[in-house]
Amino acid sequence: MKRDLSLLSQGVAKKSEKEGLFSINFLGLWGWGPDFPFPENYRASYHRSDGHRQLDELQNQIKGKRAIVASTEPKSVPWVEKYRPQSLADVAAHRDIVDTIDRLTSENKLPHLLLYGPPGTGKTSTILAVARKLYGAQFHNMILELNASDDRGIDVVRQQIQDFASTQSFSFGVKSPVKLVLLDEADAMTKDAQFALRRVIEKYTKNTRFALIGNQVNKIIPALQSRCTRFRFAPLDASHVRERLKHVISAEGLNVDDSGLTALVRLSNGDMRKALNILQSTHMASPHITEEAVYLCSGNPMPKDIEQISYWLLNESFATGFSKISDIKMRKGLALVDIVREVTMFVFRITMPSDVRVHLINDLADVEYRLSFACNDKLQLGSLLSTFTRARAAIVAAAK
Ligand SMILES: Nc1ncnc2c1ncn2[C@@H]1O[C@H](COP(=O)(O)OP(=O)(O)OP(=O)(O)O)[C@@H](O)[C@H]1O
Ligand SMILES: [Mg+2]
Repeated sequence: MKRDLSLLSQGVAKKSEKEGLFSINFLGLWGWGPDFPFPENYRASYHRSDGHRQLDELQNQIKGKRAIVASTEPKSVPWVEKYRPQSLADVAAHRDIVDTIDRLTSENKLPHLLLYGPPGTGKTSTILAVARKLYGAQFHNMILELNASDDRGIDVVRQQIQDFASTQSFSFGVKSPVKLVLLDEADAMTKDAQFALRRVIEKYTKNTRFALIGNQVNKIIPALQSRCTRFRFAPLDASHVRERLKHVISAEGLNVDDSGLTALVRLSNGDMRKALNILQSTHMASPHITEEAVYLCSGNPMPKDIEQISYWLLNESFATGFSKISDIKMRKGLALVDIVREVTMFVFRITMPSDVRVHLINDLADVEYRLSFACNDKLQLGSLLSTFTRARAAIVAAAK
């Protein structure tokens, strides 16, 4: 690495000489020309980790442009990437799955893998940690990583994947001679491509393992599923999300109170990526992370607002309920779909005859379904109120 950078910097120096430039600005000093030898500290400075960035800056200055280089400070890295587990031991939850994969990796008995489950549960992180463990520094030479942003039609299976899988690897120093084809978001692959992959997987098993990752396992054809060992990554349970968040909070030195942490865990719904993203955006918005700050920043209704809305739905007349809910929606910028989702949770908790609850929840599900197609908000709010009006009438009738 050191050598590469120093060669590269020599190249730039030569280029500037050729172009007859008499001065380059480096370390704030002006006045070196082609006849001046470059001092030792010139090259040494490129040996620092941010050598590439400095080189870009230098090249831009040589071209006479003002350098606009993205900051590579750790501060600018989103926390989801900064705290992505680097090794299998770092992966929170799913201990049984991770330990099994760890053992298979250590014994060089890795089968073809199919990891599936909802977003932000550590599927990609786990497989990257496996690759790191298998190949160490040669990591990038030994894996072919394709995700939904790459073309993965039948042509890619026939050419790119087959070419990679069929060639023998000559990497020195790696523990495992088998290569890894990583098909992230495999559930988005076309059926044709999946069918073509069946034979490829079997044919090149000797020197290649396939790891398929997806959210919906039913979008992966049964023939591929049966060729892989399946592991389901369930949403992380609250205690694991809390523990991981505490780790990030202490590493970043954040001021988070207990109710704020509980709100983060609750809003994440077992999605660690979501938890970290809300934590980071709330931290940007307010230095002290409280329950209110978390709800405000993520645009979710506060539990006390939901209680209030539920009270209106269960007690006020249609017209009053409509105007009060419209008002709070406007004032607090709440989305009707969030209100419906949270009110449904509230309906589960209050006591009412079970047949009334069944109908009510069914109707709420319809409202939520219609809202997902961006229907008229006002009409759907009316529908929400009518649903509750009907339920109230049923409760009164049941009590008689
Ligand atoms: N089990 C976990 N332990 C620790 N961190 C996790 C875990 N799961 C997710 N994360 C955090 O969330 C981020 C996203 O995780 P990852 O990319 O592995 O999710 P995924 O399961 O592949 O999701 P998707 O299905 O959306 O691709 C990681 O960078 C990490 O910070
Ligand atoms: Mg992923």
